[in-house]
Amino acid sequence: MQAVVFLGPPGAGKGTQAKGEAERRGLLYIATGDQLRAAVAAGTELGLQAKACMDAGELVPDAVIIGIVRELIAQHPDAEGVLFDGFPRTAAQADALGALMSERGARITAVVYFDVAAAAVVRRLGGRRVCRGCGTTYHIEHLRPKQEGTCDRCGGELYQRDDDNETTVRERLRVYEDQTASLLDYYRSQDLLVRIDAAQSIDDVAQAVRGALDGAGG
Ligand code: AP5
Ligand code: MG
Ligand code: ZN
Repeated sequence: MQAVVFLGPPGAGKGTQAKGEAERRGLLYIATGDQLRAAVAAGTELGLQAKACMDAGELVPDAVIIGIVRELIAQHPDAEGVLFDGFPRTAAQADALGALMSERGARITAVVYFDVAAAAVVRRLGGRRVCRGCGTTYHIEHLRPKQEGTCDRCGGELYQRDDDNETTVRERLRVYEDQTASLLDYYRSQDLLVRIDAAQSIDDVAQAVRGALDGAGG
């Protein structure tokens, strides 16, 4: 098994690129944020606990996140590889991922860093709309659905995430700088970090991501 990590600030475009890329490469797609939102929607105990953190723009406790990731990996013993979106986000999560990889005789082949300025992120997240049915992400200017408020793929209703208001976005950015940005050095020192310019158009970012992953080999 091999693993690829998409790392970068909220709104950098990780989710927009990750789904297609995982499909193309036959990788299991694990987005911890999507898992948490599914738990919130299902009204589980985990969902209730997570929602308070998410709405405040804070991280959900490491133990919870690591448990989710371990369970998902265990459910897919035959997966050839995994694409992680939004995980790891702390040093403890990075350590846990390292341990998980060695347990399975696997390794991380690339950590793709989506580099984009905070100002652009605030604009992107303010205009984001997400499908309630399939999770596809749109933007009111940059990636508009054919029919306003409706998903092109499944006809589902588009909504605005509770944490996409400006106050929470600024807190998410602060938390990113405080707890996640140090992972850049951590993976750079392991020679795994590939920086891409995430301020470009969606298509140009897609090309850069593809190049980064092709270059990383298997
Ligand atoms: P999560 O769901 O992971 O949110 P995030 O990290 O804040 O990242 P986003 O999903 O907001 O950004 P993205 O990079 O995916 O951007 P997107 O592609 O959608 O986490 C949410 C919360 O869950 C966290 O705050 C935390 O509480 C909790 N959580 C999750 N994982 C955790 C973990 N590991 N540990 C602890 N807690 C965790 O793009 C954004 C918008 O921009 C879209 O509208 C899109 O259409 C548009 N766009 C994308 N690319 C471009 C482009 N190139 N040009 C113009 N517009 C673009
Ligand atoms: Mg996302
Ligand atoms: Zn949909």
